[in-house]
Amino acid sequence: MSTPSSETAETTVNPVQTLAEQAVAAASGERVVIFDTTLRDGEQSPGCSMTVEEKLKVAEVLEAMGVDVIEAGFPIASEGDFQAVQAIAKKVKNSVVCGLARASAGDIDRAAEALAPAERRRIHTFISTSPLHMKFKLQLDPEEVHRRVIESVKRARRYTDDVEWSCEDGSRSERDFLFRCIESAIDAGATTINIPDTVGYAYPEEFADLIRAIKNNVPNIDKAILSVHCHNDLGLAVANSLLAVKAGARQIECTINGIGERAGNAALEEIVMAIRTRHDLLPYTNRIVTRDIMKASRLVSAITGFNVQPNKAIVGANAFAHESGIHQDGMLKHSGTYEIMRPEDVGLVKSTLVLGKHSGRHAFKKKLEELGYRLGENALEDAFVRFKQLADRKKEIFDEDIVALVDDQIQSEDQRVRLVSLRVECGTEIKPQADLVLEVDGEQRSARSIGDGPVDAIFKAIRAIVPHQASLPLFQINAVTEGTDAQAVVTVRLEEGGKSVNGQAADTDTMVASCRAYVAALNKLLTKRARTAPAALSA
Ligand code: KIV
Ligand code: ZN
Repeated sequence: MSTPSSETAETTVNPVQTLAEQAVAAASGERVVIFDTTLRDGEQSPGCSMTVEEKLKVAEVLEAMGVDVIEAGFPIASEGDFQAVQAIAKKVKNSVVCGLARASAGDIDRAAEALAPAERRRIHTFISTSPLHMKFKLQLDPEEVHRRVIESVKRARRYTDDVEWSCEDGSRSERDFLFRCIESAIDAGATTINIPDTVGYAYPEEFADLIRAIKNNVPNIDKAILSVHCHNDLGLAVANSLLAVKAGARQIECTINGIGERAGNAALEEIVMAIRTRHDLLPYTNRIVTRDIMKASRLVSAITGFNVQPNKAIVGANAFAHESGIHQDGMLKHSGTYEIMRPEDVGLVKSTLVLGKHSGRHAFKKKLEELGYRLGENALEDAFVRFKQLADRKKEIFDEDIVALVDDQIQSEDQRVRLVSLRVECGTEIKPQADLVLEVDGEQRSARSIGDGPVDAIFKAIRAIVPHQASLPLFQINAVTEGTDAQAVVTVRLEEGGKSVNGQAADTDTMVASCRAYVAALNKLLTKRARTAPAALSA
């Protein structure tokens, strides 16, 4: 088997395709629509919640990387979800913006309201069709479910001609009933029919067989794009999605880094790189700019605080690392010996530029571009100042340092609370103590706290200055690079009233990074609170 060149799967599709063009391309059997649900299914997973601003940033990256449909959220679920979908609908121009709705008038009307500003909008409405879900979850008989399918799709069509209908738990539904619901959904106006493997139970051949059966038994199926949405409970989400495409599906629902309910969804980067690398077996096109994959992966990881496991396909730190002597020897002779994809095709650049204390603005900007970041003038200037500060403390600046620095900055906008100064004392002879000064809504406040350890002392001081009851379900430290002068990336998760937020910060001083990560999370918590009940901060 020869490794196909990276150019074979290069896309030539117009970035702004109308739905009619999409349908024609999909029907021709070539084009697979990439539907990203990082901001909906991904965000639904515990601890993954994002602020409106963070969702907007992710949406911008998804749009730039060529995602066809961005599922931006579930507008009825919360005020934050509504605002995020609305903000994304206003901003995104080159992708369809989609909002989720159950089969109820309230859900559909709310989704339509949030999506109203979008240039191209999709309402995605769903209801369960499996015997188990209908009986126990919905407590509805199949006839009522069937009636709601028609009613919900018709209602969604009042607002847009792009309506997706999903049969939740589709892979465990009785086929005849499923075929009937699909046919009725299409008659009612659905233009995409999505078959979820909601509980990640399907097996690839079995799932492909279901897709084929739908194609062969639903008389009007040619009037809609068939889509799949696979969960990864058995680690089969990507395999199920790819075999479904071979069987006739032309839309894949997936998420960056595979985040999502429970074990997650099919990972976008794995789907896209499998299609690209095995184009000999998967002769389909999509318009994803694969060089943006690492950037999207890092952003989602930084925002959610969900680290990517080192051996994760495509985006894991070890995905392109060759440790063993035999492998390294082979790689030196010919990279194809152990590498089936080029690291640069997913946005991993071999450093052409080493940065240090004397590097100027131009070199710094070039490095950022190499790493896939295009910052505005102000953000670039801020990043440069922070780079210089880092270079004063750290001799060698690696790519990972720059990534941590920029990701950190992405988190630190719109702060009501800022770190002014921190002094920590600890050791074997003394009780750990933190002296902290924060700026809160423009006013400086200070506190001194004693803790069980230095981090505990810092967090107590923060709580003394900005009293709050949030719990701390996650405190995590990772070194960005090797060496004792490495930056520490700290992730803090705060939880209040069932809502969680993540803060992340990087610094060569682990205590400073811990303090800033907590403050970043606190700022998000305050923003979240303010969206429901605006109030001044009380000390
Ligand atoms: O997994 C699932 O069934 C879903 C639907 C809402 C599409 O996420
Ligand atoms: Zn799902």
